[in-house]
Order: sequence, then structure tokens, then C-alpha cells
Amino acid sequence: MDRGRPGISPANLRHLARMLKQGRRPASTVYDSIGSDFFLSPAPGWLNLGLWEGEGDEREAEAAVHRLVRTLALELPTGGTILDVANGLGAQDPVIAEVTSPRLFVAVNITESQLRAGRDRLDAAEARPVLADAVHLPVMSDAVDGVISVEAAFHFSSRERFFNEVRRVLRPGGRLAMSDIAVERQRPRTVGEAVAGISNLRTWGVRRRALQSASEIRASLDALGFTDIEIRSVGDRVLVPAIAFMRGRLQRTPEAPALHRFGAKLLLNQWELLYRRGMMDYILTTATAAR
Ligand SMILES: C[S@@+](CC[C@H](N)C(=O)[O-])C[C@H]1O[C@@H](n2cnc3c(N)ncnc32)[C@H](O)[C@@H]1O
Repeated sequence: MDRGRPGISPANLRHLARMLKQGRRPASTVYDSIGSDFFLSPAPGWLNLGLWEGEGDEREAEAAVHRLVRTLALELPTGGTILDVANGLGAQDPVIAEVTSPRLFVAVNITESQLRAGRDRLDAAEARPVLADAVHLPVMSDAVDGVISVEAAFHFSSRERFFNEVRRVLRPGGRLAMSDIAVERQRPRTVGEAVAGISNLRTWGVRRRALQSASEIRASLDALGFTDIEIRSVGDRVLVPAIAFMRGRLQRTPEAPALHRFGAKLLLNQWELLYRRGMMDYILTTATAAR
């Protein structure tokens, strides 16, 4: 979605078609459509929703997206092999590299266009880009000291298979740090909740089986032998200010295409409803691979 462009790109049209009939890699369709210059991104190249101290002021946006990644990266060991799963446009990778000083840094993404667009940032982080699926990591077993995944696991075809892969590639004592969307209540109570839930699944190419509560996510990690599992609910510091920030940005960018603005307004209202009604939350998860 390019700022200022009047029309809809072929990638946008593919995205709209895939909302009706999901393809094999729905997330790639979504992120090809969003492009590398999304008019709602908090700062160039950043796609996460941020960890905010304030209420969603534009002036805090860049600090908020950095803070989310730093908070997670600080949970990882330093000087080892680090794997960033679902690295977006790569803006987070120099931050992860700065915090963890990795010996080897690998960034995995299923969206090839993002890996290409983020090449300079990956170079700056000395990260090796790998086009791969989070549920089939092309990495040797017991080879990694830390895995980070920012705001992406809800896209994966199976969170459990991702955790299984993380468990396999981590050395004993290795750490996982990730942010994610938890769904605390799946069953809608009103038509508005049902419409909000379904349209978010279709827009983001998310499969129903990805909808898991924080306690279900904890149970999956526990069953796979992770220890020190900590899950923090931070919806009030992520979703609430991010929605306020994006509403402000929408007002400040009247030149964005009308259809994009309409879709964004609709989704923001739906996120607010899903959060306020206790259906959706944003969580930070850390765990250690048992020794
Ligand atoms: C919301 S974006 C977050 C990107 C980045 N972590 C950030 O915070 O800016 C979700 C990312 O997940 C990636 N992704 C989705 N499904 C994936 C999968 N199965 N394997 C690897 N990456 C995936 C997308 O390509 C996209 O880069």
C-alpha cells in the first residue's frame, strides 16, 4: 500500500480475492499487499504495534516499536546464534543485533518481497536472510541460543508446530522471546463480535486454529518441555495506544487511497471492540528450552 497512490495495486487485488478464498501462504499475500511503505506503519520499515508508555502520540511511535523489540531481545542470551522468525521488513534486526551481539544471526520470513525490501537493514544487522516457513525451519537441531518472533505466530499454520521447531533448534537452556495475539474468548456473543472476528481472520489470512488463549499457549509450551514460561498481558500498552495512534495517523494522511482508509477505520473499530469485550489480547511470552 503506497502512501499517496490514488489506486489499488495488483497485490491489493490479490489480497482482496484471497479474503474470499484463502491460498496456501495467506500471510505472504497480506504482506505483499501492505508493501514496504505502509501509510499506518509507526516508522519506516516497522510493522509492529509498539509497546507504549503514553496514549499513542505520533511523537512516541518510533520509540514504542523499538521498545517492543528491545524488551523481547533483552530476554535472549548474548554472543550466541540468534534466529529471528518472521522478521517483517527487517527494521527490528539491527536492534536485535545491537542487544544480543550475535555470533551468527539468521532472519527467517515467508514473504520474499519483505526480505528483498529489507536487504539494507539485514546487511546492517549482519543477518542472513532465509525464505522459509516458521513451521519448517531449515536449521539444524540444537544449533540456536535464542529465538525471537515479533507479532507473527498468529499467522503460522500451527503455533504448536512452530513451538516444536523452536524446541528442536534451541540448545538446552536456549531462550524463546516472542510477542503474539491471544484470543481469550472465541465464541461471539453479538453479531458485531462475529463480524469483527471473521473479518479480521479474512483480512489477515489467519486460520481458525491459530486462535488460542494465553493459557492454551502456555500449555503447548509446557507440553513440549519448555520451562520458566512467562506470559504477560500487555494489551493496554500495545493495542489501546496503537489504535489511538493509527486513528490519529489516518486523520493526518487524507491523501491515502480512500479504500485503504475505509478498510483501516473498519479494522480499528473492530480491534477496539474485540479488545474491550475481552476477546483479543496482546501478550509477551518468554520460555527456556529445558536442559
Ligand atoms: C505483523 S508482521 C510482523 C513483522 C515484524 N516482526 C515486525 O514486527 O515488524 C508478520 C510477519 O510474519 C511473517 N510470517 C507470517 N507467516 C509466516 C510463516 N509461516 N513463516 C515465516 N514468517 C511468516 C510475515 O511475512 C510478516 O513479516
